[in-house]
Amino acid sequence: MDFCELVVKKCSIRNYDPHRAIPDDVLKRILSAGRVAPSAKNLQPWRIHLVLSPEMLQKIYPGYSRDWIQSAPCLMIVSRNRNEGWGRSKDGYNSLETDLTIVMDHLILAATFEGLGTRWIAAFDPNILHEALQLKPGEEVFALTPLGFAHTDSVNAPKRRKSLDEIVVFW
Ligand SMILES: Cc1cc2nc3c(=O)[nH]c(=O)nc-3n(C[C@H](O)[C@H](O)[C@H](O)COP(=O)(O)O)c2cc1C
Repeated sequence: MDFCELVVKKCSIRNYDPHRAIPDDVLKRILSAGRVAPSAKNLQPWRIHLVLSPEMLQKIYPGYSRDWIQSAPCLMIVSRNRNEGWGRSKDGYNSLETDLTIVMDHLILAATFEGLGTRWIAAFDPNILHEALQLKPGEEVFALTPLGFAHTDSVNAPKRRKSLDEIVVFW
């Protein structure tokens, strides 16, 4: 699969095969793709929580109370350290959101490349996840995604996107 195919293939999945485990080598490649994500000043202000144990999954579910998420055999949760992003002195810009977005996208694209489904979730309850993951002071959940083999009926929906004419300006 080339890069153009990969970014079109990536789509948000709500229906996973709960009985199909993800091989360890696949998980390792996905995590390694996250590891090499770039960040401002190379500060890498993130942690990646891989949730596989049934006990921990049960603790996380109330943090995103949609039944479909329980079909995924794994959850990947990316947390950030509020104090570790690079700050631009001239105007106070902070790179944290950008850094975390990049690592999340690396993970999701790598998972797609490995034939797995994902869905970026922002609408979680931060307090429930914070407590379940016992985050360190200053640490907060940025985003999570289920990870698993998608049921075939849930993939390849046509992409609804603005046309290039609407979003590109040639000067
Ligand atoms: C920053 C961000 C936050 C999102 N949060 C949620 C969410 O909380 N729940 C959900 O079901 N999907 C969520 N999504 C998935 C989007 O709805 C989805 O990516 C978008 O509709 C495009 O569909 P596609 O990913 O299949 O191309 C989120 C996506 C992004 C990038």
